[in-house]
Amino acid sequence: MHLTREEEKMLEGEHGYAAQKSMEILVALGKIYRAEKMVEIKSAQISGVSYKNLGEEGLEFLLKLAEDGRVKVPATLNPCGMDLVRWREIGIPEEFARKQFKVIDAYLKLGVEATLTCTPYLAGNIPKLGDHIAWSESSAIIYANSVLGARTNREGGPSALAAAITGRTPLYGLHLDDNRAPTIEIHSPRLREEYEFAALGYLAGKLVKDGVPLFRGLGVPSRDQLKALGAGLACAGGVALFHVEGVTPEIIRNPEMKADEEVQVDYGEVEEAINYLSDEQLEPDLVFVGCPHASIEQLTIFLNLLNGRRVKRRTWIFVSRAVKSQAERIGLIKSLESLGVKVLCDTCPIVAPIRKLGVNSIATNSAKGAWFSRNLNGLKVKLESIEDLVEEAVK
Ligand code: F3S
Repeated sequence: MHLTREEEKMLEGEHGYAAQKSMEILVALGKIYRAEKMVEIKSAQISGVSYKNLGEEGLEFLLKLAEDGRVKVPATLNPCGMDLVRWREIGIPEEFARKQFKVIDAYLKLGVEATLTCTPYLAGNIPKLGDHIAWSESSAIIYANSVLGARTNREGGPSALAAAITGRTPLYGLHLDDNRAPTIEIHSPRLREEYEFAALGYLAGKLVKDGVPLFRGLGVPSRDQLKALGAGLACAGGVALFHVEGVTPEIIRNPEMKADEEVQVDYGEVEEAINYLSDEQLEPDLVFVGCPHASIEQLTIFLNLLNGRRVKRRTWIFVSRAVKSQAERIGLIKSLESLGVKVLCDTCPIVAPIRKLGVNSIATNSAKGAWFSRNLNGLKVKLESIEDLVEEAVK
């Protein structure tokens, strides 16, 4: 692998421990994937923030890097294990909170912005078409590649942090034109609801595995529908890029784009995916929206559907702090909270220690949220429309 003089210096330790460790990680990765060289990146987005997932070992590693490391490019963080302001109110144990703050402090020392969201593109970290970046939250990666036309591989937390510290990532995979072409065309039924897009994503992810699907027949989905589709795709398969006919930037530039393989998906299969992600006869402990973190539009829809009714069940909506402060300015948060909804930041029910909060079952409109709640946290789940979630919440 060819390294510039500057990169060699980092590898030899001339820029300190953190830069050296980071370059070692990137060179090892580059060798595995046969990258010829590094490419400079515009931003990084780093997962592995919840103390629940990092544990003591992860925290030690971060503290060591933070002794002399500093990021070279704008870098933002994925959600952590709790709302940094309201953690006591939602029942997070004191000891967990203490460790979580230590993790955040280490990242801050490294110069990473504590945005604590999986939707950095709704919080100011918005890459441009063709930008090379190193992101590590799967739903954000697929959104950046597909909807924004930026270029990132599916980084892990450590490689994204290493890329942030060195300002580089190995040039392979989705950084290269050839690997961005569609591998399969999916002819889809026209969908209306966000949870249907999420289920289609889940279904297509299973089908495509780590390929690049090109969807035809979807019409013009909204930003939130694309977000839901991508999150479903990325959680069920290893998908990191999709194209939507007439919608996403790379197919707009190259409308002749096509794949050799084609498959037809009908609405019955989408329904099957919804049923698969729903346990029967469930009275959920928690109704939640915001996987990936919700937008202003989703908050508005939820409030309008409540139509002045108070929730009777624990109902949480997860957003970035950036979206929350915009929503505060227009009175949305006050209206939702006055009806009993909690709008939480910095975390989500997947990375928070949710079982410790007495939650054993959830209802959500996110395929990813349902899948991880069931498979990672062992909860009973229900995937349903936002209309049904609101009815569930006020029941
Ligand atoms: Fe975000 Fe948590 Fe879902 S990090 S994509 S809300 S699993």
